[in-house]
Amino acid sequence: MKKKYSQCRSAAMIAGFVVLFALAAASALAAEKGMVEMITDVAKEKGMIGAASFDPQGKLMLPKDYRRWVFVGAPVTPNDMNGGKAAFPEFHHVYIDPGSFKLYQETGKFRDGTVIVKELATVGGKKGASGNGYFPGEFNGLAVAVKSSSRFADEPGNWGYFNFGGEGGKLKESARAQETAACSPCHQKNAAQDLVFTQYYPVLRAARAK
Ligand code: HEC
Repeated sequence: MKKKYSQCRSAAMIAGFVVLFALAAASALAAEKGMVEMITDVAKEKGMIGAASFDPQGKLMLPKDYRRWVFVGAPVTPNDMNGGKAAFPEFHHVYIDPGSFKLYQETGKFRDGTVIVKELATVGGKKGASGNGYFPGEFNGLAVAVKSSSRFADEPGNWGYFNFGGEGGKLKESARAQETAACSPCHQKNAAQDLVFTQYYPVLRAARAK
């Protein structure tokens, strides 16, 4: 009888601990959520959308540190395969911000706030140590896509497109959003997922296949 009672008591204690632990975990989560909301509010005030930052005139600031982001692919459309007149005769190095990449791995979708950078590099030469091919020369351009339901509510897929120029290696510090007709239609028509050319980005395809 005595034994049973103490068993009962320790079971109750364990149950108590479980409840306490759950409560503590829940309040920690709530605090963290509150913190995240606070950070998000401050970020919004500062013109931040995910990894993108906008000035008060609504121009996108040139993203910083994008070369530390996740590199997803490098299509190349050289002149000599396009009758000497390729629209973009360069290598296109494409990066996605790490936070959005992580969520893409988890959900297979581009979250609100996704930033994708396409940095152009000229085709520098065709002979390399490993054989003939196309080898990158110098950087000469940069374009960015930002997905934001608040800033680009009327744009297809909520994507805003930006061109930072960059011929000769000099990029603009900020860029205005392009007209919808300039960029979006080709992406809408030809890109595999949500206006993004995932069909050319093996890293994104592999992330989604997980
Ligand atoms: C004629 C079609 C076409 C037009 C017009 C076009 N793009 Fe793209 N864009 C592409 C293709 C194809 C890719 C895939 C990568 C590659 O091959 O360069 C791409 C990729 C991108 C990416 C990388 C993310 C993604 O969606 O895959 C950005 C950023 C981008 N384009 C910006 C722009 C901007 C800014 C404009 C307008 C000034 C523009 N694009 C107009 C065809 C187009």
